[in-house]
Amino acid sequence: MSVTYEVRDGVALALINRPPVNAIDVSIRKGLKDAIARAEKDDTAKIVLIACAGRTFLSGADLNEFNTGILEPGYYEVLGIVENCTKPVVASLHGMALGGGIETAMACHYRCAVADARVGMPEITLGIIPGAGGTQRLPRLVGARNALELLVKGAPIAAPQGKEMGLIDEIITGDPVEGGLAYARKLLAEGKGRRPTRDRKVDTTGFDEAGIAAVLKENARGLKGRTTQNDIIRTIKAAIEMDFDAGLAFEDQVSRVSMQSAEGRSLRHAFFAERETGHIPGLAAGVKPLPIAKVAVVGAGTMGGGIAMALADSGLPVTLIEAKQEYLDNGLKRIRENYEVSVKRGRLTPEALEKRMGLIKGTLAMEDARDADAVIEAVFEDMDLKKSILSKLDKVLRPEAVIASNTSSLSLTELASVTGRPDKVIGLHFFSPANVMRLLEIVRGDKTSQETIVTGLSLAKTLRKIGVVSGDKFGFIGNRMMLDGYFRESEQMLLEGVAPERIDEVAENFGFAMGPNKVNDMAGVDVGTKVRIELFKREEREAPYHAVSDALTPMGRTGQKAGKGVYRYEPGDRTPHHDPETDALIEKLAMEFNIDKREVSDKEIEERCVLPLINVGAQILEEGTAYRASDLDVVWINGYGFPRYRGGPMCYADILGLDYVLERIKHYQKEIGSSYWKPAPLIEKLVREGKSFADWDKQQKH
Ligand SMILES: NC(=O)c1ccc[n+]([C@@H]2O[C@H](COP(=O)([O-])OP(=O)(O)OC[C@H]3O[C@@H](n4cnc5c(N)ncnc54)[C@H](O)[C@@H]3O)[C@@H](O)[C@H]2O)c1
Repeated sequence: MSVTYEVRDGVALALINRPPVNAIDVSIRKGLKDAIARAEKDDTAKIVLIACAGRTFLSGADLNEFNTGILEPGYYEVLGIVENCTKPVVASLHGMALGGGIETAMACHYRCAVADARVGMPEITLGIIPGAGGTQRLPRLVGARNALELLVKGAPIAAPQGKEMGLIDEIITGDPVEGGLAYARKLLAEGKGRRPTRDRKVDTTGFDEAGIAAVLKENARGLKGRTTQNDIIRTIKAAIEMDFDAGLAFEDQVSRVSMQSAEGRSLRHAFFAERETGHIPGLAAGVKPLPIAKVAVVGAGTMGGGIAMALADSGLPVTLIEAKQEYLDNGLKRIRENYEVSVKRGRLTPEALEKRMGLIKGTLAMEDARDADAVIEAVFEDMDLKKSILSKLDKVLRPEAVIASNTSSLSLTELASVTGRPDKVIGLHFFSPANVMRLLEIVRGDKTSQETIVTGLSLAKTLRKIGVVSGDKFGFIGNRMMLDGYFRESEQMLLEGVAPERIDEVAENFGFAMGPNKVNDMAGVDVGTKVRIELFKREEREAPYHAVSDALTPMGRTGQKAGKGVYRYEPGDRTPHHDPETDALIEKLAMEFNIDKREVSDKEIEERCVLPLINVGAQILEEGTAYRASDLDVVWINGYGFPRYRGGPMCYADILGLDYVLERIKHYQKEIGSSYWKPAPLIEKLVREGKSFADWDKQQKH
């Protein structure tokens, strides 16, 4: 039974118990409907309390209903019954009351909450409009302006803040059921009666054109390229202008359309794709992650320092190993400085800073790693150096300890070969800054065991990162798609005479966080050149492959840090300026490679940025480098600035339609004539079969 009914001292308690998080499904809706019906007939019940057992109130809707559709009785019916109950109905909140959870509470006549309960309507993050009356009841409780802010931000707020707004009536202490019962009895004693939200008027203060514009401006970053906010505004206006039932019908209609929109489909895809990455196809029964309680990091440079911070941020003790005292001191100093910035910004207390620094112990002795459960090596990208470090670690560490490398390009299989434990060697490819970026590529060498892979995935979780497993191939998943796809084509366009700022502008209009040329300058043009030198030792590529960058590097045009790269920069300023010196270099290279100038439209720029990502992504899938197409989407959304609201390149391809994608790839194969525009056989196969990448994912073994 998801909902039990009992009367305690005049209060009908509808207690919901659906572990782990009381996500609302049909059994809860039906249980609530039945409980209200019983209370209506029950003379001993004077007031109804809806509360939850376990660690949270109704945390939200059961997302499986995205696939099955909402089963009867639906939200509108059940919440209507709650609101129309002839006896007062109270909700008692604890834990998280999000989306459908808070919508249920808003259909009650009174709401109390423990102080650390959090409430909110995060639907915008999934590209949808609430579909259980939230857009109509929230403005009636908190006013149109507050409702707009809550719905547009999508972030939960604490119960006391909810009380200030009028969303919560009372903050209770102690157990949410006992506290809720006490509050219900107090209401009875005070003679308080029914108070349906639907009968209230919406306070429209601050909800004029200027007020709306101010909210949109304040949230502009998150709303870039988005449209859900327009529907939020329409539904709030409906709450003001229409009677309640008409408003609900309007919400229902807008909500249904939002479910089908490309934006909604893409955002939900991203959400589910991120949940899926930890699932290893064909995982043998009983394979469990090894416990990781103590980690050592070798190298206190940019990455090693960031990795040490990520570990300390999660409360793990870290032994940080460097080659020389001076480098160690510098590394520790940089870590402290980074934490100090967080303190200055109010994101970290000075005590937390000291606690985290206290978790990081610097040393010059590799032997100090001896009791670590895992070691992450982040020294220079040099095969021989890394091999010597791994072989030393292999001697020092306990036999069950995992050895990880943060290499961005070297073969894991080759690195592992110098150890006596190749099954325990894995790539943990962090992204810079390692303490901030959520993506962690987990690279399996030929001999890496499933146990080691799940240990890597589990460590990613501990670090609150998203681990995506990649095969040990050229550039793994992310860099392979970037180098062979996106960046190669953007350089090709430079050689065809397209200005770098035009490429960047089109890419940014598409929704990329930053255009490819700006990224190149920010990351360091030389960094890419070095990575490619290492990668070419694994596999060659046909020229011109990143010819512009590889010519800029020896000229000292290494990007922002040098004041010049693809662009030119003024001292102390990161604004990119067009540079004729780069133009001259590009012209010279175009002559060398015999590439003619072409007129290129914005549409062509966009397609040539995105289609190669899809084509290379398909090759990666065929080769078995990734488990599933949605993993590629997760990598590109979280590591490479691909717009989340487009769901990642492979989801975007599905939404465009693979037949259309194939046609456009063939078009450019003819126009550009380069061999790399050859369509991936997987795309051709899927088109022949009338299938999508999502279908392909479903066919993979589980
Ligand atoms: N920088 C990035 O954006 C990035 C991203 C992902 C992966 N990586 C990879 O991370 C690794 C480190 O890159 P980085 O940018 O931090 O380089 P870095 O030059 O900033 O740091 C490397 C550090 O390793 C130390 N080191 C060298 N030999 C050592 C030894 N024998 N013992 C202990 N320490 C030693 C150096 O003193 C230096 O502090 C490389 O494999 C790189 O490919 C870098």
